[in-house]
Formats: sequence, structure tokens, C-alpha cells
Amino acid sequence: MADHLLSEQLDTHNKQENAKFSSESGAEMTYTILWIHDEFKVQAADIFLTSFLKTGTTWLKALIFAIINRTQYDFSTHPLLSNNPHECFPFLDAYVHDHSHETISCLDSLPSPLLLATHFPFSLLPNSMITTSGCKFVYICRDPKDVLVSNWLFLNKLRPKELTPLPLEEAFELFCQGMSHFGPYWDHVLEYWKWSLEKPEKILFLKYEELKKEPLVVVKKLAEFLGQPFSLEEERKGIVQEIVRLCSFENLSNLEVNKTKTCKLTKDVVVNNNLYFRKGEIGDSKNYLTNEMMEHLDKITLEKLFGYGLTF
Ligand code: A3P
Repeated sequence: MADHLLSEQLDTHNKQENAKFSSESGAEMTYTILWIHDEFKVQAADIFLTSFLKTGTTWLKALIFAIINRTQYDFSTHPLLSNNPHECFPFLDAYVHDHSHETISCLDSLPSPLLLATHFPFSLLPNSMITTSGCKFVYICRDPKDVLVSNWLFLNKLRPKELTPLPLEEAFELFCQGMSHFGPYWDHVLEYWKWSLEKPEKILFLKYEELKKEPLVVVKKLAEFLGQPFSLEEERKGIVQEIVRLCSFENLSNLEVNKTKTCKLTKDVVVNNNLYFRKGEIGDSKNYLTNEMMEHLDKITLEKLFGYGLTF
């Protein structure tokens, strides 16, 4: 009986702490969205990487950074060997400070083109980002089953110590109901997918799975889309292969900076770099989800994406 009461009390405590945790991050997010709408000035040369959590953002940041700066750095002393990809290609949210003027001058002082990432859904982007001509977007998505599992494992590691880990069953229910940091996963993907069909010159839509299967093809496609195609000479010298190798899971995850250091993502969030590199495989979710869970997720995917020409 005493055990039962204790577990009920713990449960109530956890729910209260969870609610506090969510409402604090909700308020922070509202502030960030308002800042991006009111203060952020888009430039024609800017490159934006947009994605849902755990879809391959870190990998794509590294690739885009390496492609854009390929004539500036030697592969033996490349910044990606001593910096986490999130330091080379920050989140737009990282510039949201209390003193917005300081922030803007800090953004102004960054080299052009500005490489900035955001997890915000298309419908929350300011009009200026969508309509400014010249600036480009790259979006990456991934099989929802792998997104859920990767996200669940990652967020449990970031949870405050006083909270017990979120059970997978609960994470699954929340994900299926569309309750996640940046809204329902399927809507996130679909909004960017529709935009890419409408404006293929503005946004390149990628899948983690295609990047895993054909990294060389995708890297060439990326360079071309970003207006910096590889020359025949570069191809002959094996630059495309060098970039793919530099940014590979094996290489990045074994670097000292990614094994032992931390990185400040936004003004309040500091993350151990090793958390960004778990397994980097397609289909690892089958080792965590039951068959019923996998079937249910596939069913939602089929229903939500039906008729749009997008599959996983
Ligand atoms: P897993 O948890 O399935 O291993 P994000 O960067 O959007 O947070 O996504 C993280 C996911 O991408 C993790 O997936 C991580 O292991 C994987 N990942 C990170 N770097 C990678 C790389 N260079 N190549 C392939 N996958 C990578």
C-alpha cells in the first residue's frame, strides 16, 4: 500500500515537473518565433537548413559547410575536424538574445553566405524568409519510425535529472498525436514537400535514406542547387569523395571534439557533442518498436502522405 502511494506521489510529481518543463520551453519558443519575425533580416545569399529533430541535421550541416567552403580549407586542417557541425552552422535560435541589437550586429559580422538552421515548420517562417529572392533552403526528412526512436533516446538524455525517463510507449503516443517540439512530424514534412514542388529553385528536399544510400550523388546535387557545382577538375581530384568522407558518421563521431566536448546550441541549451552521433543507421527503430507500433506509424504515414507522391 505504502509502495503504491509513493508511486502515485512520484507520478504526480513527474507530471507537474513535466508540465513546468514543457511550458518553460513553450514560452522560450514563442519568444524565438517573435524574434525571427520581428528582428531577423534575410539576405539574398543566406542558406537555410530546415528540418525536424533527429532527421540528419548534424550531418547535412557538415556537408553544406564543407561544400560551400571547399576552396577555403584544406582537408587535413578543416574546421570540421576541431568543431562540432553545430558550431560551424548554427541554429538561427542561437542568436536570440535579450538585446536584439547586439544580436543583429553579431549576425551582420558573420561571413557571407550566412548558414543558418531552424527546426521551425514552414508555416511559422516569416514571410521575408519565404519571399526574399536568392536565399535558398535545404530540407531533410527521415522515416518517421527512426525519427521517433532517435528523438526519444536523445530527449531522454537531455531531460532534467529530477524527471524519470519518458517511457517509449508514452513517447510513441505523443508522437502519433503530433505532440512534439515542432508540431506534428508528418505536417512538418508535408509543408516543406509541397513548397519544394512549387518552388524547386528555392528549396531542395532531401531524405536521410537517400543520403545514406547515395552520398556522392546527393552531395553533387546539393552543390549544384547551392549554385556551386563541382568542376570536372574537382571531380577528378576526388573532392566530392573527400567531403563525403570528412562528414561521414565514422569520421565525425570519432573526432575528439565530438567525443568529449560540449556545444552551446541556444542561449540556454548546452549539449554533449557525442549525443548527436548515436548509430546513424536506417531502420534501427525495429530494435525498439513492437510490430504493432511500426505498423501503426506506417499506417499514419500512408494516410497523411497519400496522394502527394512522397513515401518513406
Ligand atoms: P540515430 O539516433 O538514428 O543514430 P540530427 O542531427 O537531426 O539531430 O539527427 C541525429 C541522427 O543523425 C542520429 O540518428 C545520428 O546518429 C545521425 N547522424 C549524425 N551524424 C551523422 C552522419 N555523419 N552520418 C549519418 N548519420 C548521422
